[in-house]
Order: sequence, then C-alpha cells, then structure tokens
Amino acid sequence: MSSQSPEQRIGELREIISRHDELYYRQAVPEITDRDYDALKQELADLEEENPLLAMMDSPTKKVGDDRSEGFQSYAHRERMMSLDNTYSDDEMREYLARMERELERTELTYVVEPKIDGLAVSVTYEAGKMTRAVTRGNGIEGDDITANARTIKTLPLELNRGGGAPIPDTIEIRGEIYLTNEEFQRINAEREELGQQLYANPRNLAAGTIKQLDASVVAQRKLEIVLYGRGFTAPVEILPETQQQFFDWVKAWGLPTVDSQWSAKSGDEVLAAIDELDRLRHDLDYPTDGAVVKLDSIALQRTLGATSKAPRWAMAYKFEAERAETLLREITIQVGRTGVLTPVAELEPVQLAGTTVSRATLHNGDEIARKDIRVGDTVLVEKAGEIIPAVVRVNLEKRPSACVPYTFPSDCPVCETATIRLEGEVAVRCPNSECPVQVRRRVIHFASRACLDIEGLGEAMVNQLVEHGWVSRLPDLYSLDRDNLLSLGKNVGKSTDNLLAAIEASKTSELWRYIHGLGIPHVGAASAKDLARVFGGLRQLADAAMDDYIRDKESVISGIGSTMATAITEFFAEEHNRQMIDDLIGIGVSPEAPNADGGGVRFAGQTFVLTGTLPTLTRNEAAELIEAAGGKVSGSVSKKTSYVVAGESAGSKLAKAEKLGVEVVDEAGLQALLKD
Ligand code: IVH
Repeated sequence: MSSQSPEQRIGELREIISRHDELYYRQAVPEITDRDYDALKQELADLEEENPLLAMMDSPTKKVGDDRSEGFQSYAHRERMMSLDNTYSDDEMREYLARMERELERTELTYVVEPKIDGLAVSVTYEAGKMTRAVTRGNGIEGDDITANARTIKTLPLELNRGGGAPIPDTIEIRGEIYLTNEEFQRINAEREELGQQLYANPRNLAAGTIKQLDASVVAQRKLEIVLYGRGFTAPVEILPETQQQFFDWVKAWGLPTVDSQWSAKSGDEVLAAIDELDRLRHDLDYPTDGAVVKLDSIALQRTLGATSKAPRWAMAYKFEAERAETLLREITIQVGRTGVLTPVAELEPVQLAGTTVSRATLHNGDEIARKDIRVGDTVLVEKAGEIIPAVVRVNLEKRPSACVPYTFPSDCPVCETATIRLEGEVAVRCPNSECPVQVRRRVIHFASRACLDIEGLGEAMVNQLVEHGWVSRLPDLYSLDRDNLLSLGKNVGKSTDNLLAAIEASKTSELWRYIHGLGIPHVGAASAKDLARVFGGLRQLADAAMDDYIRDKESVISGIGSTMATAITEFFAEEHNRQMIDDLIGIGVSPEAPNADGGGVRFAGQTFVLTGTLPTLTRNEAAELIEAAGGKVSGSVSKKTSYVVAGESAGSKLAKAEKLGVEVVDEAGLQALLKD
C-alpha cells in the first residue's frame, strides 16, 4: 500500500467499496463485515480530506449506497432518505456531541438514544391516514416500490389510528426499518440448509433478500417485521412535532410499531451510559440491533444543523463491535441432510463468544471454504450471526502453519460412499442415494416431528434405532413395525411400545397438510403444505396432479406456490419410488383428514366476494388472488349469497345491488383487514 500514490489508493478504494456496496445493498450477500467495510470507508474519507483535489462528488463517501434492483418500479421519495454517519468509539461520540454544542452555541442539549435496527431502510407513505406506498431507500432520491411485499407484513397497519390523539397529516412519509427476528432467521436458514440452498449470513441479509422477492407469496411465507422511527415529507407542513420524542409518541399513537426502548440524555456521559445499557439489553429486544442512534431531540435545532450530502448533522450512529473470537480449526466434518445435501462444519477448539462456548461453526458449502481458503489447522475468526449460529468470517493468515494444505471437498458421501452430484445452479453438493442411511433417518425424523405428523415417542433416538436395525428404510415401514422387535430394544418398554404403536396408528388419520409437509418435498414448508391440502384435498390427487403438470397450470391460482415449488413437486412425484410410497401409504390405510370446505383454518373458506370499481392500490387480479389464496371465491355478480362486495372508486350497479340486498360492502383497506383477522 505504501508504494501507492494517494491518487492510486483513492481509485482502488473507490472500486473496492463500490463492489462491496453492490454486494451489500443490491445482492444482500456481503463478503466482509460491517466493521471492515466501515474501515475502508474511513480510510477513503481520510485520504479525500488530505487531498481535496481528488475528492470527487461521486465518491462513495459522499452518497448513500444504492439498493435498487431489477424488476421493481422506481419511486421518487418526496423528501430525500439519508444515511447516518457512524463511529465505534466513545471519544468520537463525545467529540461529535461537543461539536454540535459549539455549532449551536448551547451547552444544555437534549439527546435521544435509541436502538439502531439492523434491517433495511424503508419509507412508508400514508395519505389521508391510509397506507399507499412503501419504498426502499434506493439511492436516497428514488427507491424500489415494494408496496405489495410490505403489505404482507402483518404488524404494518394499513390505516393510521385516528383515536390515539396524534394529528393525522394529509400525506406523510414515515421512515423505518424492515427486519426479521433472529428466531425467524434461524427457521428459514434451517429450512434452506435442508434444501441445499445458500444460507444467509445474518437476519439483515435475509430480510433484504426477502423484500426484493418479485413473488409476494414467497414474502408472505417469511415473517417480516417493521419498526418506524423517522419522519420524511409531511403535508401540511404545520403538522410538525417539537421533538423527536414527541414524534415517537405520535408514531405510537398512530398504532405503528416503534422502537420501544429509548433514552433521553443531557450530556456525553448520559449518552454513553444509555448506549451501554442498550448494549446490555439489546439481545432481549425483538429486532436485531447493531448499534445505537443518538439524535438531537429538538426538531427546530435539527433543522438549524441540516445535513451533509449523505447524512444529517443532527444524528450519529454508535456501532457495537461484532462478537468475534479467534480459535483453532481442528477439523472439517461433513453433515448429510434429509435431502442429501452435504454441509461442511468447522470443528473448533472451544472458545468463549458472547457468553457461550462455541465449538462448531457452519462453513455453508464448498465454494465458501474455497473462497475464504479455509484450511484445517488454520486459526480462524468466528462471529456470531443472528446471535446464535456462529460462522467463520476469515482466516488469520499470519498464524497459518506451513504444513496447512487447501481443503478438498469430498467427492463421495461420507456415509454411504456414493459419488456426490452438484445440480446446475445450486451451490449445494448432494448425495443422490435416497437410501443413504442418514437421509432415511432424517426423513423419518422430519416425518414424525412436531411440525409434521407429531408422533409421540418417535424422536431422534428411536428413529436412529429403527433405521440401524433395518426395520425402517422408507416411511411406509413405520406402519408395519413388529411389536416383538420393538420390545427387544430394551427393558421395561412394554407400555411405551404400545403407546408408540398406537401413536403411529393414530397418525394415519392426521390432517392432510401434515402428511404433505412430512413427505419432505423440497421447498414445501408447512404453510405451502396447507395451501396444497386445501386445493388438492388428498395425497392421491396431489401426486396425480403433479404428474399432469396440473400444478404448473394452477400456479396462478394456488397462491403461495411459485414456479420453483411447482417444479419441485413435479420432480418429486416423477420419481417412481415416491409414487410407490404414496401407493403404499394409501394401501396401508393412511387416509389423512382433508380440510373441510367450511373452515379448516382458512379465513375465507365458504365465502364469496364480488369486486367492483377501481381499488386504490390493488389490481382486480391481485385482489382476486388474495381472496382465493385465503380460500374464498370471487364471483362476477352480486346475490344474497355474496359474503362481501369489495368496492373501489366509481363502483356502479354492483355496489347498488349490494346495498339493496344488504350485502356487506368493504373497501380495499377493509378487505386487507379481513385478511389479517
Ligand atoms: S434515523 C436521516 N434511527 O441506519 C437518517 N436510523 O446506517 C435518520 N437505522 O439509514 C435515520 N435504526 O436505515 C434512524 N433508530 C434508528 C435507526 C436507523 C436503524 C438505519 C437507517 C439508516 C441507517 C444508517
């Protein structure tokens, strides 16, 4: 680096940073940590300050990252969305506060300290109290219109609460953050791991990847959440809170989710004490946090200070150091999942990390190991992502022993020694042998698990024994287990054996969706299994439909089933042994309970809707899809049997008829409210 001129280094840094911006903001797959990224930016900012002639306006230090991506409509924010300056140090925070006091020529300033949510920035517009649009930050000037996806967020009200005592502006852009809870992050990653899909490194990336899905039904299956904390364009301008604290109260009164822990501070000491307290309790908050945001409380003074080209001068983020530790990588082992995916796992010298002992970390897949050149014998840096799963961030090359050799990913399954395969377009390497004992075990464990058939007494340990003894190699084998064989497993097991057999027998008439989920079709989770159960009503129908490509044709009407899932279902039933399995299950007397037409947990089952007029944000088709996805029917004409008429602007005779017949009429917000019930 020292041989480079500042000019060269500036050019190089700009390139490196642009690349990482692309990875973080657009693709949601960052390769470096926030801390390393911030360090690069700081180096560039310092160089630009020392060399003002080289500082160009389009430098990444002067603009906010750009998250816009293909397939979304751009929408211009009515007021710019900014980024925040940040620091990792107490001293810098004190300096910043002191500078602010000097600039404002005041000593007694009030600050608000609140959690910095690690999600992605969004601006939600409410017009006349109704939610009309949600847009990502984009480049700060215009962002992607993600309204359809944002509507799937259950905690985001479609209408502001008028009774809370806060004024309702004609138009307001409310700024906030879309995020995923750590719990949901882990659930989705576990599902992806089973399916051999690339794992997301942390909840933020998964939330960002989710909100940029073009298929809103995929979004609906992941529980996105939101908090709102900031104010954008507001009309009329007279509706202006006096303080940040008051705005927070308004947001709450409007019924929107807020950052519920906040501190008021009057000095550097108080600010730092609040940040400390937040650091202690942040792991108990619902949202992932990566720092604190310190804001000047007075809105009038905020306006006096104004903003730079990318960030307000009245706020500063204090970022917490990630929880990391160095340790020795003793070995790399390979886990084989239910669908045969081989996942490499780092076996570590146990190390203390954020209050727990870590001895294993995920290495995701072979590509990841090669990219980071992780070798057995290396000293590696481990970081907790999403609070729970530790991941290997990088190798400390200075500590690499000379005898270390690059890792070679096994070409055979470590369990059954079948040569592995890699499907096109997948990062995962799989064992193609569906009889591989690990796959069998995992399939049976999944089938019997709570989320599927929920067979009591058929936990992991029991399944392992059944498979080891060769009594179970396919799911139908469970229904012909021999009592004497089971009794031979141990002493005092007479009663529990009978209970187990009874539980297995009882599962024959479990709900249909449990069976569909239990089959372990790639990409079919519990929520989609429920949709499929409702539409097909039986295992046989589902299997036959898959063979006729019916599922693909129906794709547009079975909400929640995108083309990936449709293909997976078709491929699953194209395999002879899977069709045989369905035949055998039915032959044994498995007859799951189909959801009944008048309920079965489906919101609109048995209800008929008629759409009329132009709805403010949904097209007719979109509204019909939502209704059908919830089990309702859409009809073209109003009768006494119509449950609801959904009326938009310039609704005509259908509306009149509904009123005449006394059929309940709702608007779009009303429909959304019904969907959320
Ligand atoms: S206030 C004008 N408050 O952090 C910008 N931002 O790294 C004022 N963020 O772009 C933003 N939690 O997306 C604010 N409590 C909070 C926040 C927060 C997270 C995000 C925001 C911002 C980014 C900067």
